[in-house]
Amino acid sequence: MTMTDTVQEQASIIDGKAFAAGLRARVGRQVAVLQEKHGLTPGLAVVLVGEDPASQVYVRSKGKHTREAGMKSEEIRLPDTATQEEVLAVVDRLNADPSIHGILVQLPLPDQVDENAVIDRIDPAKDVDGFHVINTGRLQVGLPAMAPCTPVGCMMLLKDRLGDLSGKRALVIGRSNIVGKPIAMLLLAESCTVTVAHSRTVDLAEECRRADIVVAAVGRPEMVRGDWIKPGATVIDVGVNRIDAGEGKTRLVGDVCFGEAVRVAGAITPVPGGVGPMTIACLLANTVTAACRQAGIEEPAG
Ligand code: GUN
Repeated sequence: MTMTDTVQEQASIIDGKAFAAGLRARVGRQVAVLQEKHGLTPGLAVVLVGEDPASQVYVRSKGKHTREAGMKSEEIRLPDTATQEEVLAVVDRLNADPSIHGILVQLPLPDQVDENAVIDRIDPAKDVDGFHVINTGRLQVGLPAMAPCTPVGCMMLLKDRLGDLSGKRALVIGRSNIVGKPIAMLLLAESCTVTVAHSRTVDLAEECRRADIVVAAVGRPEMVRGDWIKPGATVIDVGVNRIDAGEGKTRLVGDVCFGEAVRVAGAITPVPGGVGPMTIACLLANTVTAACRQAGIEEPAG
């Protein structure tokens, strides 16, 4: 073997943290233009019901990044005993507030609150999560829609890495409304051949071995093994699982066994630092888009 005859032994690691920082900077420039030219400050409201520790971390981070991008940030916290009527009343108030262009109700909600009823109450124009049936329907038929943030972030990383996705075989593992189903729609819109796998799928490993693109979004730590991956495939790991690391410590791992998959894949997102940071960056971008649409202004390039 000569010096130029190198064998690839490790996938390239997709740096979602850096990509997201670039996206947030762009949003910041867009906000500056909107304020200067149109006197418009996009506003995002985040509603948190209860004390779920992971949700509290996300909500705090969302507020910080929203303010750093120059936008208005409003946080509404309700106790975990809040009734459905109380949550709906908050949504109604935010729907009517002209300084708020985006509304996000952090999920999951406590059992006594019907998630679908709450999402249904959000003005679709302010639905920056893209969870309202109007937006999921618009996405499905290819009309301009608010698309869910994590799937949009995954698509940005995929397109940045692969360029044209058309004809690629894509396997989505997981069929949630938040990630699995919408990313399947977005991959289809890019002319991928899409398979959606779930808990009843027969021989998931074999499905995986056929895929040029694997998107893992099941919430099961390190479930996807290295020998499931087609050599050179692009692996997007949406999982965020906290596992016991011994000595009273914990660590975050994805749905993919990174240590194994990195030896086989062509490119892979790490956890943390892959898809995670993209979600908030896309949320900010959706809020700018929503603000421009509501004001009837063309979105600045940034
Ligand atoms: N909980 C976990 N992910 C999300 C998300 O993207 N949006 C909302 N609203 N809640 C979540």
